Amino acid sequence: MKGRIWLNLYDDLLADTLIQGLQREGFETVRKHVDKADRKGLLAAASEGYDCVIASLEQWDRELIDAARPRLKLLIKYGTGVNNFDIPYATSCGIAIANLAGANAQAVAQIALTHILSCLRGYARACGCAREKIWSPYTGRELDGKVVGLIGFGQIAQHLARMLDGFQVRVMAYDIFKNEDALRRHPNVEFCEDMDRVLESSDIVSIHIPSTPQTENMAGEAFFSKMKDGAVFINTSRGELVDEAALLRALRSGKLSWAGLDVTRAEPFDSSNPLLTMPNVSVTPHIGAATLESEERCQRLMVEIASAFWATGGHARVINPQFAGQL
Ligand SMILES: NC(=O)c1ccc[n+]([C@@H]2O[C@H](COP(=O)([O-])OP(=O)(O)OC[C@H]3O[C@@H](n4cnc5c(N)ncnc54)[C@H](O)[C@@H]3O)[C@@H](O)[C@H]2O)c1
Repeated sequence: MKGRIWLNLYDDLLADTLIQGLQREGFETVRKHVDKADRKGLLAAASEGYDCVIASLEQWDRELIDAARPRLKLLIKYGTGVNNFDIPYATSCGIAIANLAGANAQAVAQIALTHILSCLRGYARACGCAREKIWSPYTGRELDGKVVGLIGFGQIAQHLARMLDGFQVRVMAYDIFKNEDALRRHPNVEFCEDMDRVLESSDIVSIHIPSTPQTENMAGEAFFSKMKDGAVFINTSRGELVDEAALLRALRSGKLSWAGLDVTRAEPFDSSNPLLTMPNVSVTPHIGAATLESEERCQRLMVEIASAFWATGGHARVINPQFAGQL
């Protein structure tokens, strides 16, 4: 047996590719879902002695990492965002952390494009009216001819830029890192060193950056005030990036015409969040990465990461590679 792996996977997730793949590679797998809110359950599960954990959205802070030590060697995030890991502490404990950046990017880009079109055409609202049997025609807008601004130009934004190439739009992008290779592959994208220029010029602004202490509430009062009057705001990244009270004010005042959100500050939804019932908000419950094709890619990749890590002590998806070779 290579190692014992706890798979903290949602009960409704089809995980045959992952479980069968890991078992074929000689790992012992324990599938058990403990909700991120169940701290006691998480601490108990973490202390059961695992070499590796496939993690969801639960907070891997000092306390949980300590519960899993000293056996834990590898934490794999079933997703991209690693804001639920205390990376410096895990690193200091010799625990490698890997994520699946890129494997779910095209699925998330598709949900961003879905929200863009939903907002422009009033699609979410029209579907809601139809369900209530209310005949309420809505005159929307077309995507062609608009300026789309991408904040962050990583894997998801690059897929979105590729998809937007099928529309007659101008695509602008801002990122703290100018990725020349990516820009060569996407000649339709106009890179800007200045985020404000993207905000001021775009009819639609879509954010694709990680949630970190530096980016928390980045989309707040000042951000929205720089956007064009009547513009559309899209967030498929993380709820923490947005000051939801400021977004609400911008939507109520008409500063923004619509917002499309796949993520919210509280997940699952806080039912008292007024954004959920605003007529000009299109919301989905964090389903960006949830497609069968994306699950398949992610599960194959996790088998590959675990196998390579046990064989060589490393893998390109380990984000703290200073621990490569520690096994
Ligand atoms: N809705 C979902 O289901 C879902 C699924 C996967 C990822 N996500 C979120 O999407 C985010 C982006 O994913 P990705 O795969 O494109 O990641 P990525 O790492 O490929 O790209 C992120 C980009 O953001 C840039 N960046 C970081 N800080 C910035 C800042 N302050 N200003 C401008 N640019 C900045 C980075 O340089 C990088 O190019 C993830 O961090 C995750 O939170 C959501």
